[in-house]
Amino acid sequence: MRFAILSRNKNLHSIRRLLQEARTLGVECDIINPLDCQLVVDGRNSCVQVGNLILPRYDAILPRIGASITEYGLAVVRHFEATGSFVINPSSAIWESRDKMACLQKLSQAGLPVPASVLARSPRGLRTAVQTVKGLPVVLKVIQGTQGVGVMLVHTAITLGSVLDTLRGLEQDVLMQQFMAEAGGRDYRAFVVGDRVVAAMMRTAPEGEFRSNIHRGGEGTLVKLPKSFLNLAVKATKTVGLRVAGVDIITGKADGKGKKAKLKPMVLEINSSPGFEGIEKATGLNIAHEIVEYMAKEAQKTKNRKRR
Ligand SMILES: Nc1ncnc2c1ncn2[C@@H]1O[C@H](COP(=O)(O)OP(=O)(O)OP(=O)(O)O)[C@@H](O)[C@H]1O
Ligand SMILES: [Mg+2]
Repeated sequence: MRFAILSRNKNLHSIRRLLQEARTLGVECDIINPLDCQLVVDGRNSCVQVGNLILPRYDAILPRIGASITEYGLAVVRHFEATGSFVINPSSAIWESRDKMACLQKLSQAGLPVPASVLARSPRGLRTAVQTVKGLPVVLKVIQGTQGVGVMLVHTAITLGSVLDTLRGLEQDVLMQQFMAEAGGRDYRAFVVGDRVVAAMMRTAPEGEFRSNIHRGGEGTLVKLPKSFLNLAVKATKTVGLRVAGVDIITGKADGKGKKAKLKPMVLEINSSPGFEGIEKATGLNIAHEIVEYMAKEAQKTKNRKRR
């Protein structure tokens, strides 16, 4: 069997771990930099070329496309799809999950719980938008941020107006979202591979911070999630069409139930190229092995289907 991982940097922790586990499984695995790929079509065939080399057909491809090269990276993924290769996370699903509003729209349409959120380009109706997300303080997010960058907490109407003006001046669309104060700076990262959550951690934001991202100094601890959280993470991943994903879940009060209301899980967002250094450390679990083993199983199923 032969796999390919699409990544610009083979020295990244997650790429080195995946290579290690592929080797242990006896699978050949190429690391391909999407920016080195030439995409060739001639009306009959499509192929991907790196330098003079036409890339072989792979049994499975795992895209690990960095946020800064989304567009070209996804053109490369689409091309591998066009050559009939089995791609673990389809290009359309990566695109949809990377756009925070597109992702929330898809989840909400499927009836999955998400925090109240508003996307608006016009400054008109701002007061209504703030009411829709249950009042100040509100969370603002740029549509394609990552690692907590572009996620802001705004307490006053004056700050809100000036922040929105500034971001609109930078032609950034901004998502306004209900602040889940009752989460107390904690959320959960569920790592989904296929039909199951292979690992989960609780992330706690550092003192004076509301974002719990590990890259922002958040602390990750092993956690045993209730069934409802596990089901939500797997359903959310499938709803956006991914097979390997990092699902961010936050807890919030069910509407209009007041102080005694039970906290319920809601999906914040879904990451199609989740890092796993933090969660492997926090849980001691071998996530790279889970991914490679899943790739081998799915690739074998695809092969068997094609033989029939
Ligand atoms: N509505 C909210 N209420 C309270 N806290 C929130 C809310 N939205 C986000 N946060 C906090 O901010 C963090 C970052 O937000 P989010 O996951 O949406 O953005 P991100 O930058 O894309 O993260 P990632 O690195 O996972 O891609 C969350 O992990 C959570 O701790
Ligand atoms: Mg996140």
